[in-house]
Order: sequence, then structure tokens, then C-alpha cells
Amino acid sequence: MSDSVDVVIIGAGAAGLMCAAVAGQRGQRVVLLDHASRLAEKIRISGGGRCNFTNIGTTWQQFLSANPAFCRSALSAYTPEDFLTLVRSHGIAWHEKHKGQLFCDDSSEQIIDMLVAECDKGGVKRRMQAPVTAIGQENGRFTVQTASGTLSADKLVIATGGMAIPQLGATDFGLKAARQFGLKTIEPRPALVPLTFDQQSWKPFAELSGLAVPARLETGQGKRRGLFDEDLLFTHRGLSGPGILQISSYWEPDTPIHIDLLPGRQLAQELVQRKKGSKQSLAHALSEVWPRRLAENWLQYRGMLPTQRLADMADKPLTQLADSAQPWVLTPSGTVGYKKAEVMRGGVDTRELDQKSMQARKVPGLYFIGEVVDVTGWLGGYNFQWAWASAMACGRAL
Ligand code: FDA
Repeated sequence: MSDSVDVVIIGAGAAGLMCAAVAGQRGQRVVLLDHASRLAEKIRISGGGRCNFTNIGTTWQQFLSANPAFCRSALSAYTPEDFLTLVRSHGIAWHEKHKGQLFCDDSSEQIIDMLVAECDKGGVKRRMQAPVTAIGQENGRFTVQTASGTLSADKLVIATGGMAIPQLGATDFGLKAARQFGLKTIEPRPALVPLTFDQQSWKPFAELSGLAVPARLETGQGKRRGLFDEDLLFTHRGLSGPGILQISSYWEPDTPIHIDLLPGRQLAQELVQRKKGSKQSLAHALSEVWPRRLAENWLQYRGMLPTQRLADMADKPLTQLADSAQPWVLTPSGTVGYKKAEVMRGGVDTRELDQKSMQARKVPGLYFIGEVVDVTGWLGGYNFQWAWASAMACGRAL
């Protein structure tokens, strides 16, 4: 049996739902397919169940891509304020948390319900648990084979997201689809992901697991330089926390990251000044700027006695001690991988797509939207804003 429709969208996540709603409401006959049993699982779990659905400070500069200016057009044509208008029209209460991040007051389910209601308004047909076995093109129409039959459509939209969290149904379907149609892809990698270190070199710090401290983190150079002032979190295997997730997207294997463990202050100067007439131990002095656990661990790591009196120290070793933490330079051995990553970096090469519609230049009628495209946002609502904006650009063009 073969059903004929105007548009088939594969992937009922953030981008797929948004695109289906827009195209449906513009009069297109749309079928939205997903292999999972529940739609939009990533929206459901996002933001600790409250969905950080956008960031009011969004500009194209918070995104990584081999072609950084590509996302500008879609992001300026559909802004966070536009998405907020939709959120308000559904009566969803929200609040701003940290650095422009907007969250639902109640539950991420409200965003899913909103998108489903918008799809229903547009008469979108949803088919869940519908694994796609093959896609192709015959006589200018796209064919999509599923277990329950073949669909044929004028237009095919791939919205299957990235490979992060395969346990929730993430796949490399979109990358394979791009390659099948002769489009280039940028090497995919886990991003917004905790970093790991080899067991031996991490041994001295493993006991700090669970400790969070503010830091300034830096890696890379030129256009590929990342710099963030955010907390980092020690774990058994390495480092996590918002600062590390952010810097992980910029990190290249075998290169170092620079971590200032006392951002905005000069530890060497402070310790030398504090020396005069002080009865403090070194550990005590350091625990005035760091949590005690970190202060003691750092002294041990540097081979110094925590009980040593600050006043008895020469300036040079004090300065060396401070310099070792400003910055602390270390080279991760890897990441914890897609299982724990929040997003995938890389994806369909944007030079293959039209920035206004997301249509493949070489294959008219074929579109890629959302995370499968080589546009990766920072932590903080940017990735959803890209999903909405790219979906809107495509939906308006279908
Ligand atoms: P998305 O992953 O949403 O949807 C893809 C859909 O395609 C899924 O429904 C999947 O089942 C389906 N699919 C995959 N392969 C298929 C196949 N072969 N056949 C059929 N269907 C297939 N971002 C943000 O801005 N704010 C936040 O708070 C968070 N929080 C967050 C938490 C966690 C734990 C994760 C893992 C990620 C986030 N993100 C986030 C990132 C955000 O979830 C992500 O960038 C968007 O969901 C991407 O939207 P897409 O629609 O492109 O993919």
C-alpha cells in the first residue's frame, strides 16, 4: 500500500513537531514519523523536566559550526521572543533562571502538549513506532518505506536529531540519509559532555568527586576558541558541570584545557600579602578562597604540608603553588561519550543547505532541520532555539 502526501517528516522531536505544525497550518498534507513509542523524549527530559526552551540572549555567536554564519538567517527570522509569543498563547507559565535561560514553571510536558496541539491544528498525521526501513527518490517524488507500508511525498524533511542518548532512540539516520543523497557531513562528536582523564593521572583528584567550584575555562584558538566563566564539577572519572559541558564542545582530542580555579582574582598576590604577621596554616589560608577539600587536596597534589605556616613560606613556592591553579592546564583523555552527551556536534554540512529554507541545494525537495545539521548551540536553551528556528525556516518554505 502506498500513501501519497505533500510532506513526510522523519523525527517527531523538537524540530520535527515544530516544522510539521507550521507546514500543516499552511495547508500541506503532512505525515510525521518516528520510530520511538513516545514523541519528543528529549524535550521531556530537558532542563531537569522543566525544559530550558530558549535563551533570550540568543545570537548566532553562541553556535559552533564549520560555517558559523549559516544559522544567522533562520535565527533572526524566528527569535526567542517569537517562541515566547507561542508559549504565552498556550498559557504556559515560565521563568528566567541563569543568563537568559527560560524554563517552564511546571513541566516540559507543557511544551510537548503545545507542539502536539499546534500539529493537530494543522491536521498533521502522526505515526509513532514507525521505523523507516528505506528512503529513496523515484520520478521526482520521495519514497519512505516503513513496516506498515510505503509513503510517497513531494517533500522529505529529515529531523532525526543527533546521536546523543541512544538509549532514548537517537540514531545516525540523518547522517546516513545525507550521505545517501550525496551530501557532505562534518564529523560528528559528542558535545556538551563530561570530560575524562586517564585513571592514573586522575587518581589524586577522584576523592574530590561531587565538589563544584566556579572557574574560568578556556580551550582552542581563533574561531575555535571557547572561553566560559561557569562552575565545574569534580567526578570520579574527570570533570563535569556547566563550565566543562560548555568547553567540551570546543575541545579537540589531545589538546589541553586551561582552568583558572580562582577567576577574577590573583591568588599569588593574595597569598603573599596575607603572609605578613599571619598565624594561619597554608590549608587554612587556601580554604578562605576554596572549599576546604579542594585546598587540602591541592596542597597534597603539590607535595606541600597543609599544616605548614603561611608566614614561614618563601614567596617563590607560594607563587608557584598559586600559578599551578591559575591556570590549571590539563589534557583530557576523552569524553564520557554519546550516552551522557547533551548534543552531537557536527552533522550535515551547512554548505550543502540553503540557509533560508534548509533545503539541500543538490536535491530539491529534501530538507534537514534541528540537531542533525552542523549547528551546535551552547548549553542554556540555544539548541532548542535552533530546533525551533530551523524548523520554522523549513516549515514556511514547504
Ligand atoms: P530530537 O532528538 O529532539 O528529535 C529527533 C527525533 O527523531 C526523536 O524523536 C527520535 O526518536 C527520532 N529518530 C531518531 N532516529 C530515527 C529513525 N531512524 N527513524 C525514525 N525516527 C528517528 N537543549 C536546550 O536547548 N535546552 C535544554 O534544556 C536541553 N536539555 C537537554 C537535556 C538532555 C538530557 C539532552 C540529551 C539534550 C538536551 N538539550 C537541551 C538538547 C535538545 O534536546 C536537542 O538539541 C533537541 O532536542 C534537538 O531537536 P531535534 O528535533 O533536532 O532532535
